[in-house]
Amino acid sequence: MEEKINSVLITGASSGIGKALVEVFANNAYHVIGISRREKNLIDLKKSLGENEKYFDYLVADISERNQIEEICDNISSKYFVHCLINNAGISSFKSAIDDTIDEIEKIIKTNLFAPIYLIKKFLPEMILKKDGTIINILSVVNKKIFTNSSIYSASKTGLESFSKVLREEHRNDNIKIINVFPGATATEIWPSKALEKYSSKMMDSKSVANIIFQAFEQKGNLSVEELVIRPITGDL
Ligand SMILES: NC(=O)c1ccc[n+]([C@@H]2O[C@H](COP(=O)([O-])OP(=O)(O)OC[C@H]3O[C@@H](n4cnc5c(N)ncnc54)[C@H](OP(=O)(O)O)[C@@H]3O)[C@@H](O)[C@H]2O)c1
Repeated sequence: MEEKINSVLITGASSGIGKALVEVFANNAYHVIGISRREKNLIDLKKSLGENEKYFDYLVADISERNQIEEICDNISSKYFVHCLINNAGISSFKSAIDDTIDEIEKIIKTNLFAPIYLIKKFLPEMILKKDGTIINILSVVNKKIFTNSSIYSASKTGLESFSKVLREEHRNDNIKIINVFPGATATEIWPSKALEKYSSKMMDSKSVANIIFQAFEQKGNLSVEELVIRPITGDL
């Protein structure tokens, strides 16, 4: 049997922080698998990597659909060993709790909370077997501070934080690193265009955020960066 390719799996690779993460990992010769729904963006991203495009494979999938996750996971497991899983894909509604519809609530929870948990459950056993694994969760400053118009988003992010903190304790002896990242406002497509127009100069850029996450991943020795809070110098919006 062919040996599996050691890979970094990044969800939400088609824009923003996820795209910047693909670039920094691939440009440092890590093999990356990117997942998201917009295929055109993934094709363009691969091309833009130039000679490093050989380090990037992608799969088109909607991770809010459990059957699609199962399909891509089977595909990935047959060919790759995922030594690093980056749960980055995320959505928000920017609405008050009373205005969020049940459909919107379900979509946010499925994308931001269920999908990362399914992916962790899928890839953690092989990480444990090989005593080599890093799970990076892109959470948010909403885990640290109350922001209105983000109740379900906050519930999904704090849910994943709690899950991961327990998981970390359960696997202290398996050489599994769990890095919870809490970024502040970053200029990406997640924001409504009006907010971007008004505040982008006060936001961080996704490349700088991705570089810090990459540095945390690269730390060697018997230590792990467990939490990473990254804010604009001027603070929250
Ligand atoms: N920007 C900020 O200020 C900020 C602050 C704190 C935390 N974060 C977090 O950072 C992460 C990345 O967001 P971003 O700011 O970079 O926004 P973004 O540019 O909108 O990126 C979100 C990514 O998630 C993917 N995605 C969304 N739903 C998906 C689904 N159902 N299936 C597969 N992929 C899906 C999108 O790809 P497709 O649309 O192609 O599927 C896109 O690649 C999110 O978890 C977000 O909560 C962002």
